[in-house]
Amino acid sequence: MNAPLRNRETPYVEITDLRRTFDVSRPWLNRVIERQPRQILRAVDGVGFTIRRGETFALVGESGSGKSTVARMVVGLLPPSGGDVRITGVSMTDPRQASERRRLRRRIQMIFQDPYASMNPRWRVRSIVAEPIRAFNLIQGEAAIAARVGELLSLVGLHPDDGVKYPHEFSGGQRQRVAIARALASEAEFLVGDEPTSALDVSVQAQILNLMRDLQDRLGLTYLFISHNLAVVRHMASRIGVMYLGRVVEIGDGRALFTAPKHPYTRMLLDAVPDLALTGRQRIPVSGEIPNPIDPPSGCTFNPRCPFAEDRCRTEVPALIEGVACHAFQERRLPL
Ligand SMILES: Nc1ncnc2c1ncn2[C@@H]1O[C@H](COP(=O)(O)OP(=O)(O)O)[C@@H](O)[C@H]1O
Ligand code: SF4
Ligand SMILES: [Mg+2]
Repeated sequence: MNAPLRNRETPYVEITDLRRTFDVSRPWLNRVIERQPRQILRAVDGVGFTIRRGETFALVGESGSGKSTVARMVVGLLPPSGGDVRITGVSMTDPRQASERRRLRRRIQMIFQDPYASMNPRWRVRSIVAEPIRAFNLIQGEAAIAARVGELLSLVGLHPDDGVKYPHEFSGGQRQRVAIARALASEAEFLVGDEPTSALDVSVQAQILNLMRDLQDRLGLTYLFISHNLAVVRHMASRIGVMYLGRVVEIGDGRALFTAPKHPYTRMLLDAVPDLALTGRQRIPVSGEIPNPIDPPSGCTFNPRCPFAEDRCRTEVPALIEGVACHAFQERRLPL
C-alpha cells in the first residue's frame, strides 16, 4: 500500500479498548466498621470505534451506560484507566506525545447539554465567543477580533449585535448557538456533543440539529454525537454505536441499524421510538431497568432483561463479532 492511500484511510478518531473505572467505595473508616469491601464501578469497559474525517458517529444508550465518560476521555478531560484514544494519529494518553496533543487541543471542542453552566454569566456574549481567539492568540487587534466574533455569531444564526447581550438574555436554543460559536472560535474541526439538544423543546432541538448538520457541510467538521434518544441520533449519524453498561453491544451503519437492528437491546430501544413502529419485525416490549453498575449481572449484562437469554448468556461475556455482541445472534437463534 502506498503512503498517501494509507493516509487517506487513517480514521480521524481511533478508540481502542477504552476503559474507565471509578472507586465508589465508602470512606475507609466506614468500610472497616461495616466490613465492606472496596467497590469499583466499571463505567466504560473495553469500548472501541473509529470516526472518519467529516463523519458523524453517534453513541446511544440509556442514562448510565457510560456515554459521557467516553466523551470526557475522548476530549482529554478524564484520563482512561486503560486503552487509548488517537486523534489524527496522536495519542491522547501517551506522555511522549504531549506537544502534539497541545497543538491538537483547540481543534477538539465539547458541547454540553447545559451551555449556561460553562459560560461566565457576567460576561457579554461577544467576550465569551472571543475568549478562545484571545487564549490561543489566533487574531491580533480588537477590531479584527470583533469582526470575527460577528462573523461567528452570524454563522450560528444569531445577529452580530447579539454580542452585547448577556447569556441570561437568550433562550436555551440561542445559548446553545453561542456555545457552538465559541467552539468554532478556536477553529475546531472535531466537536463532541454530549446530549447537546436534550434540554431543548422538540422544535428547538430540530433547529440546533439542522444547524450542526449545516455547519458540518460548510466546514467539514467531524462529530461525536451523544444522545440517549435514538430518534435524535437517526437524523445526525452515519454510523452508530449502541452502549449498554459500559460496553458497545452493537455498532454499524445508521441506516442498517434502524432498518435491521440485530442486538436485542437495540431492538428494544427502537421499539420505544414511536415513528418507527411499523417495521414488520417481531417487537420486543421495553422492560426492566439498567442493573446496578457496581454489581452488574455476570456474562452478558443485558441477560436479566433479555427475552432470548440462555445459560451461556449468564456466564460468558459475548464478544463484539461483526458489530454485534450477542450469543443468540452468533448462534442464529434470534428472530429476524
Ligand atoms: N466521577 C464519577 N464517579 C463515580 N461514578 C461515576 C463518575 N462518573 C460517572 N460515574 C458512573 O459511571 C456510569 C456511567 O456514567 P455516564 O458516563 O455519565 O453515563 P451516561 O452519560 O451514559 O448517562 C454511571 O453508573 C455513573 O454513575
Ligand atoms: S447474549 Fe444472551 S442475554 Fe445477551 S443479548 Fe444476546 S441473547 Fe440476550
Ligand atoms: Mg451522560
